[in-house]
Amino acid sequence: MIVKILGIETSCDETAAAVVEDGKKLLSNIVASSMDLHAQYGGVIPEIAARSHIEAINPVIEQALTEAGCNWDDIDGIAVTYGAGLGGCLLVGVLAARTLAIIKKKPLYACNHVEGHVYANFLTATSLPGYTMPDKAPAFPILALIVSGGHSQLVLFRDHFDYTLLGRAQDDAIGEAFDKVAKVLGLPYPGGPSVSKAALEGDAHKYALPKAKLSNPYDFSFSGLKTAVLRAVQAETGVDHTYPSFKLAERLTKAQRVDFAASFQRIAVETVVDKAVLAFETHQPASMVIAGGVAANGELRKQLQGRLPIEVSYPDFKLCTDNGAMIATLGCFHMKKGTPTADPYSLDIKPNLSM
Ligand code: KG4
Ligand code: ZN
Repeated sequence: MIVKILGIETSCDETAAAVVEDGKKLLSNIVASSMDLHAQYGGVIPEIAARSHIEAINPVIEQALTEAGCNWDDIDGIAVTYGAGLGGCLLVGVLAARTLAIIKKKPLYACNHVEGHVYANFLTATSLPGYTMPDKAPAFPILALIVSGGHSQLVLFRDHFDYTLLGRAQDDAIGEAFDKVAKVLGLPYPGGPSVSKAALEGDAHKYALPKAKLSNPYDFSFSGLKTAVLRAVQAETGVDHTYPSFKLAERLTKAQRVDFAASFQRIAVETVVDKAVLAFETHQPASMVIAGGVAANGELRKQLQGRLPIEVSYPDFKLCTDNGAMIATLGCFHMKKGTPTADPYSLDIKPNLSM
């Protein structure tokens, strides 16, 4: 049976909805971001994000159906992110999905946001303009590297919904480190794109920065690297740790700024790639996928591909950051595999949901 699922995602600052057919074909993908409202604060303000979701959710869902050329009779089920994420934000998407599931009499699937990022890799077709899709879905076993603003994880998938978490973030996620380093360097939010753009002009070997060593070689820690950048910037600009960090960027020259961006990015990316390569060699998966916002990073793609013997699969840039398509895709597989549906009268959010 071919299924069409409406996916709804509101875990952070993107209000997103999409329709996916059979876990393969992207029929629509609508994302309204409140990022511009957060930029002035250098990070997402949960209260502002939640209020923006309330305003955007209905039009975004309507647009997703229209772009897909679907009416409610064409939709077989609704998939929604119920965790992990910001409580007030998750609540808006979950309540919208619950209400629609009741009114339109559709099965409801509760989706894990981080699993969703991995499932963006199963999308292989679309007639929407401007998307580059892989020509085939990844084969199991799949090694998934999930790198986002909230997560750094290595997961081995033996099959759909049968996986082992090899390692995870012990403190800051890699995307968070990009965002915090951007702040120190005076680069705009979100830090990932701005640091990687600045890094293009910088010398990646100018500053020596540390790689964290952890007892589980697959775990991640980026708070030490972030602090090392802060200390190095203080040393380079001739101030000590008592100097206000929000004023540090003013003291940096352009050359120092781009060299710090490049040196930080090199070490952050190398750290992740070292772990992914070790996991690949140990578990010999049939495919390797990258997921999450940091999967958009060009240096990460380049280094990883350069060190692995198989072709690494990535979603289109627009499907790397938070979106409804990844949740709709995951929902398709839940439906096809017969996962029990969620109760639309009681589904609760799980802000700390893990894999
Ligand atoms: O997956 P995502 O949209 O949200 C979470 O679930 O966290 O990821 C957002 C994160 C942000 O930290 C952002 O700085 C980072 O992804 N990011 C990047 C790039 N584009 C976005 N990091 C490095 N390089 C990029 N090009
Ligand atoms: Zn995400």
